Amino acid sequence: MISRKSVDEVINAAVIEEVVGDYIALKKRGANLLGRCPFHDEKTPSFTVSPTKGIYKCFGCGKAGNSVSFLMEHDSLSFADAIRKLASKYHITLEEDTLVNREEYDEQQKKRESLLVALDFANKYFIDQLHNSDEGRVVGDTYFRERGFTKQTIDEFQLGYSPQGWTSLVDAAKAHQFNLTHFADAGLIKKREDESYFDLFRHRVIFPIHDLTGKVIAFGGRQLVKDDKSPKYLNSPETDVYHKSNVLYGIFQSKKAIKTLNNCFLVEGYTDVITLHQSDVKNVVASSGTSLTEGQIKLIKRFTDNVTVLYDGDAAGIKASLRGIDLLLEQGLNVRTVSFPEGEDPDSYCKHLGPVEFKKYLQEQEKDFILFKTDLLMEGVGNDPIRKTEVVKNLLTSISLIPDALKRAAYARECSRLMDTDEKLLLVEINKLRKNKNALDQQPIPQEIQEILHTKTELPPQELYSGGDEQEMNLIRLLIQSGHKKFMEDATVADFVFKELKEDDALKIVNPVYQKVLDEITAIMEHELDFNEQFFVNHEDAEIRKMAADFLTEQHELSSAWSDNGIIVKTEKENYVQDLQSLFLFLKKSKLEQLIKANLEELQQAEEDEKRNFCLHYHIQLTEVRNMISEMLGTVVN
Ligand code: GTP
Ligand code: MN
Repeated sequence: MISRKSVDEVINAAVIEEVVGDYIALKKRGANLLGRCPFHDEKTPSFTVSPTKGIYKCFGCGKAGNSVSFLMEHDSLSFADAIRKLASKYHITLEEDTLVNREEYDEQQKKRESLLVALDFANKYFIDQLHNSDEGRVVGDTYFRERGFTKQTIDEFQLGYSPQGWTSLVDAAKAHQFNLTHFADAGLIKKREDESYFDLFRHRVIFPIHDLTGKVIAFGGRQLVKDDKSPKYLNSPETDVYHKSNVLYGIFQSKKAIKTLNNCFLVEGYTDVITLHQSDVKNVVASSGTSLTEGQIKLIKRFTDNVTVLYDGDAAGIKASLRGIDLLLEQGLNVRTVSFPEGEDPDSYCKHLGPVEFKKYLQEQEKDFILFKTDLLMEGVGNDPIRKTEVVKNLLTSISLIPDALKRAAYARECSRLMDTDEKLLLVEINKLRKNKNALDQQPIPQEIQEILHTKTELPPQELYSGGDEQEMNLIRLLIQSGHKKFMEDATVADFVFKELKEDDALKIVNPVYQKVLDEITAIMEHELDFNEQFFVNHEDAEIRKMAADFLTEQHELSSAWSDNGIIVKTEKENYVQDLQSLFLFLKKSKLEQLIKANLEELQQAEEDEKRNFCLHYHIQLTEVRNMISEMLGTVVN
């Protein structure tokens, strides 16, 4: 456990714009920085980083937090691992926690160590049995040789043999004075009712499963004779050191080749990995019969972005490969496939062709996933328009999972070519699918609310703010006083304001006089003219004249919302850049508060459960955003 002190030290040292800046490009925008949100797809940047508050917030998807939560979210790290990553970035040495926690931590470490020791002992035992016992040589070694494995391969993969008796491993462990509970916890042996132990792996050839660093963490054992009463392969159960969903068989032996060749062959079985290795295809791992998981894909991603799926040539294999393709695409990997004749798997087909021809086969048969799916799904479809449409939809669903917009576009083009369909239409459909998917990801918040929150245009019903409010006034006043001044590299304050207003319909200025001012300024800007208060004080429209005069009088110099919250503006003329940032936040907050109020009123009047639920969810969402904005403004939420 990392001590609280160290955690605090790391959090204090972490500079949010540096941490985020390692991943996305940020542009200065007044007091804040702005970039494209890494957590959702967007064209116009709405990912805001506040250096002073040390936080980020995306106004598009709502994700928000500090340096630690950014790394946790972005790199899928645990809290502790995010702290470790930051510590190494800022060269901070982490301290372990106080004695009590330290003991707990050591205890856990010790337990894991004990399991690894038991597993290591079992591994050596199985290897020894294969080579040095009569039974192992006659039964096990013969089996491997019949499958074509060489001595070198058997050694490299540390293959072994578990004898026929019920307690061979139990007896060996006892003879070495091991504590059997560790063997039980490691999934190697089991307790009977009379408290005595028996072996889990009996009369099987053994395939040890290694972690990335080469430690044995589990075993697979294959039966030697077909026996329907027990499984063909028996695998270790989940233990403290073996989490199936994060493990790939062969990763230790293959990782180097995967990295060097920048490609990973993904197969289903232990023997596929081993046979391919022996045939000099060394960049190969197996999902070991289970369906592919996100954790396994992340493991591959540490070494390459390119995967070639080699699943068995039977119906089950094809079905599994289709599922795998979608998962891989979703994780941003480039996916190709090679298929095998019915009844063959990579192991059997490699033996059938021989290593040289097999490698040629892989090269020649490798297809991009889109072509693979098209060929597969179009079988027997012919020109039937309805079935063809179904195929297109299926292809688009896969394409819509790809996170990279450019790749999606490239695949839409490919799909349009393969299926002879209009490319633009396909892109529209892909975007629809993505929208639906994003909405579904966020269960249980109802989709209507998702839409309201994610497409800013739906906010809010206009009649709510017939009078406008103080924040609107502040904005207009700032525009009149400083609108023509330079705000960023190539934009004036007015440019910025108009862009913000255009981007978010919730920020609609509702006071009609203020709206007139906005229209005036738009016209002035179009003619590239200058303006200031005097232009409005002397305006032909009486309402505008009165307003401008009001602005120039003393009591309007400071509006309460600004001064009350400690963001004091002496004269907007000097501080307008920073003020504008805060002002928009105040404006958003005020609009949100009005929405919250209206929604609560609606909640009180709601009679049906469905409606009440809707309002409740909406309330939670609204207050969350409101609180975030308040936090950015450093104000107290009441
Ligand atoms: P061989 O028949 O020895 O060539 O194995 P294979 O790899 O061709 O087997 P198959 O294609 O049937 O299965 C692929 C993978 O699924 C295996 O390597 C195992 O990891 C796993 N598997 C197969 N059968 C079983 C089973 O009965 N139980 C469990 N838990 N896993 C299995
Ligand atoms: Mn096989």
